[in-house]
Amino acid sequence: MYQWVVFLHILGALLFFMAHGASMAMAFQLRREYNLDRIRAILDLSNVMLPVAYGALALLVLAGIAAGIMGSWFSRGWIWAAIVLLVVMWGMMVVYGTRFYSPIRKAIGLPYRTGGEGPGSEYPAEPPANEAEIMTLIQRANPMHLAIPGLGIAAVILWLMVFKPF
Ligand code: HEM
Repeated sequence: MYQWVVFLHILGALLFFMAHGASMAMAFQLRREYNLDRIRAILDLSNVMLPVAYGALALLVLAGIAAGIMGSWFSRGWIWAAIVLLVVMWGMMVVYGTRFYSPIRKAIGLPYRTGGEGPGSEYPAEPPANEAEIMTLIQRANPMHLAIPGLGIAAVILWLMVFKPF
């Protein structure tokens, strides 16, 4: 049974990174696009995949907690460190998305979130801003500021799980 729970936990992680690939690709490709319709399509693709990523994240977290209880791992430090790092990363993503990607969605005339209205709810689309303003907002978002901590923290969490160092 324990092995099946760990299996589901790893499956959740695989599904999460597959689904989140759409947002990662969006972050990098957006800066190379100057056609407004293509920019909207890239933003939509990421948005459509976010609920899938959240579902996979829920599976990853629930199966991880279940495996932690079944394996009596909560008396060790590594599992707590992994949870803290995941929550920090999650918070950083929400803050960054709200600060940089929501204004782009708003400016280009797509529904957008502000972070305060709870998951799943969006503000309706508004008339688009002028093109120069949209391009400035896009160049303001630096995908490396997400990719480096995102991949770094994922690697540290993986290390904690495989080596269980403390
Ligand atoms: C441990 C690794 C990671 C976790 C747990 C994570 C988690 C999340 C979550 C929960 C969101 C949704 C935030 C919201 O509801 O507003 C998000 C958004 C986002 N993430 Fe990550 N992420 C990770 C790694 C990465 C990496 C490596 C990148 C590479 C660039 C990245 C790029 C993005 C982008 C661009 C968004 C905004 C998507 C949008 O607004 O359409 N993430 N992330």
